Amino acid sequence: MRYDVIVIGGGPGGYTAAIKAAQRGKNVCLIEKGALGGTCLNVGCIPTKVLLKSVGLLEEIRRSAEFGIKGVDVSAAGLDLHQLQERKKKVTKQLVGGVGALLRKNRVTVVEGSARFADAHTIITGDQSLEGETIIIASGSRSKNLPIEVSPAMPVYTSTEILSLEEFPKEMAVIGGGVIGMEMAAYLAGLGITVRIVEFLDRILPMVDREITEILTRQLEKKGVQIFTSAKVEKITDHSVVFAKDGGRSEAGCQAVLMAVGREADLSDLNLEAAGVRVARGSILTDDSMQTNVAGIYAVGDVNGRSMLAHTAFAEAETAVEQICGGKAKMDYGKIPSGIYLDPEIASVGLTEDQAAAKYGADGIRIGRFPMAANGKSKIEGREDGLIKIISEARYGEIVGAHLYCAHATDMIAELCLAMGLECTAEEVASLVHPHPTVSEAVQEACLAVDGRAVHI
Ligand code: NAI
Repeated sequence: MRYDVIVIGGGPGGYTAAIKAAQRGKNVCLIEKGALGGTCLNVGCIPTKVLLKSVGLLEEIRRSAEFGIKGVDVSAAGLDLHQLQERKKKVTKQLVGGVGALLRKNRVTVVEGSARFADAHTIITGDQSLEGETIIIASGSRSKNLPIEVSPAMPVYTSTEILSLEEFPKEMAVIGGGVIGMEMAAYLAGLGITVRIVEFLDRILPMVDREITEILTRQLEKKGVQIFTSAKVEKITDHSVVFAKDGGRSEAGCQAVLMAVGREADLSDLNLEAAGVRVARGSILTDDSMQTNVAGIYAVGDVNGRSMLAHTAFAEAETAVEQICGGKAKMDYGKIPSGIYLDPEIASVGLTEDQAAAKYGADGIRIGRFPMAANGKSKIEGREDGLIKIISEARYGEIVGAHLYCAHATDMIAELCLAMGLECTAEEVASLVHPHPTVSEAVQEACLAVDGRAVHI
């Protein structure tokens, strides 16, 4: 069979590319070896948030008396992990089914199987040989592992496996304080498990603004989560994770381990050499239009290792299809938001304070902060922890970074994405009327605070 476009992988990057190309009149085939929806829908964003929703709800129930609710036996409240798994399966199944329906509606041919390049325009899957004028690789990523000695008596899980567990031990160690490590640590702590996080760098969530990580670290420690930073893991024994720290050796006792030290591009079975596609540091190399070094071959989503986020994959898919259809599109990786589903949530776009100071000089930036304790809606919701921080460059006042650590942060960051996309100044955002009472007012206040004009602090 011959197609205009062959897409390898049915995750957010792959299915979006297939639908977009079909909408532009292309004859498209999508090849998927696992389930449609990829990591995000099956073992990533969506199932994680289903689990976190339940531990968040449980926490709210435990606080019910504070909100004047009586008759709830809080001491009996807990999670039915089997029921929770059923709910997770139901949500993911509906969304995966939705992707299948969208592909059908757009007349994309879906082939189940593993794709392998025979040459730059030929893909072998099962006993079929498919010809593609253009090929979009969207094969995603998989969990990384540490090359260390591991006792066979200690269960060591990836995030994929943790998401389906119905039984947990009393104590768990999490290796890696990145996004997966922290979201899973929040889930485990919410289940009542003693969590010990072991992070190689000097702080958890090293990609987040330092001030926010510091507040988060204090809050987690108050909740009983133990955090070991600047810790180099050496081995996993039958009862602990052993790590080097401050010139000595320590251990984090546990009965199971979550390995969350990052993800790497999934290039397995692709046989990229046959097409001559270049790989650097484990990921497929692309330019900002998502083209690889081989004409007609593109790579979108986690497999290019540029920003392993589902919404980046959506944008890259659109960019690649635009390019294939003769347009000129380029990704702007500097304005991609990120969200971390802790309680409260963290959401960011643009530069952290450290990055902005490095780029513009410490005197070249201005910072506005607004604490959530001074925001009416946050008080009403009983969610007073957190901070909104806006960073602008001093010369023109343009916003170059926004960091939200508050309830609804992952939804509210969209306003700052729009502002940064339009190159707005903090003053311009501050001049817009924000609704009251909302958490979003704190964004306006933080923008006012950039010039020392906040009203409620
Ligand atoms: P990550 O890169 O976010 O974090 C890995 C962490 O492990 C880093 O803090 C790193 O310093 C640490 N680490 C590395 N080697 C170590 C060692 N030997 N000992 C101790 N610590 C070590 O990777 P993660 O958390 O696995 O997530 C993978 C990808 O998935 C990321 O790109 C992330 O953005 C994405 N993701 C996004 C989510 C979201 O948007 N809410 C949720 C989950 C994942």
